[in-house]
Amino acid sequence: MDINIDKLYADHVEILFAKAKIFLESQHLDALMLGSGSEIFIDRDDQPYPWKMPAFLRHFIYEDIGPDAVLLITKNAIEVYIYQSIDFWYAPAKTHTGVWTKHIKVHSYHDIDLLHKDIIANLPNRVIYYTPPNSKLSFADIAKHATDEQIRLIQEWRVHKSEFEITCIKEANLNAVMGHVAAKESFEEGVSEFDIHLDYLSMTKHAEQNLPYPNIVALNEHAAILHYQHLDQNIPDDKHSFLIDAGANYNGYAADITRTHAGINASDAFMSLLYGMRQIKLSVIDKCLKDSAWVDIQEYTHVLISELLIGLNILHNIDAENAYNQGLTKIFYPHGIGHLLGIQVHDVGGFQNTEAQILAPSKTHPFLRMMRNLEFGMVVTIEPGVYFIHSLLEKAFADPQINPYLNKELIHEL
Ligand code: GLY
Ligand code: MN
Repeated sequence: MDINIDKLYADHVEILFAKAKIFLESQHLDALMLGSGSEIFIDRDDQPYPWKMPAFLRHFIYEDIGPDAVLLITKNAIEVYIYQSIDFWYAPAKTHTGVWTKHIKVHSYHDIDLLHKDIIANLPNRVIYYTPPNSKLSFADIAKHATDEQIRLIQEWRVHKSEFEITCIKEANLNAVMGHVAAKESFEEGVSEFDIHLDYLSMTKHAEQNLPYPNIVALNEHAAILHYQHLDQNIPDDKHSFLIDAGANYNGYAADITRTHAGINASDAFMSLLYGMRQIKLSVIDKCLKDSAWVDIQEYTHVLISELLIGLNILHNIDAENAYNQGLTKIFYPHGIGHLLGIQVHDVGGFQNTEAQILAPSKTHPFLRMMRNLEFGMVVTIEPGVYFIHSLLEKAFADPQINPYLNKELIHEL
């Protein structure tokens, strides 16, 4: 970490502490405890699932502090109780020296019972806690669990990113870009999905468990599955297309980038579609101004995709306005335009307003992950897509109201 990011972190934690103090005051509380959760073991096995630092904690501490730790926020200080097991099978949680330790007081324990006892001894009167399910440490007898409304208030702290967070997201993206360039080169060399994935990991210096979400590496028709999860080890005969949706992580903050590349066997129709989608992406980004409703951005994307599908003759016997009004674009673009991005790749806060009141999902766009307007400090992804999804197309072809508008031959080719 360089000096600049240390200063950004200092500002970040100061802002966060100020938000936490307002929260404690308004909720008539003396303290908030946030737990790091415990390792969860595979059924009848001695292997745990990978432990992930909960995002609420990551917001304060950018390094992993390990399972069974507790962050204690009072009006006077932020302190963390870390469990460093004495274990000759696994390395214990590391002893931290990062800049965050100048702002958050660290207490380390080799004995989990002592850790528990000490926190309880130091607790003020009015305390709430939030820990992931299955946590070994329970505070139920001495504190109340945060209510759903309190959890939404805490989530709201994460919606507007500090400069520190924006810098971390940028760094994550720069690394992901390197991975994407390597992956494109691997695709052009003609290797399998599995090997493209390994090249991506190697270039970004990520182990799989460090990725913000599983890489989607899809050659040819595999790209028609939105979150295609297999990494085929076979090399396909033809190179039509390559879709990669892959991120990276920096200080626990996520990147989320999707690109589609044409292969040497790509058709002219596919090349035109790819070019058209790039233009749409740029037009949609231009629409992302402060106070724009996210649902309007979603609608606007459908308008542009309708024009593209008519322009390329993928939809025919209908004009773009009617195609949009009849919802034909949803056959090809069934997902949301994007989402808040931060510590979680699909970051929290999309279904609440600034007062942390609940916003219901859209009935017309059920997969849209945000129902609020764009506000300063939000980071969002813009990821419009046109997919040729077998199940959705079969249903559309079988519908006599829709069938006449589908250019069957071209859709089949694509
Ligand atoms: N980029 C994939 C997703 O947001 O679900
Ligand atoms: Mn995404």
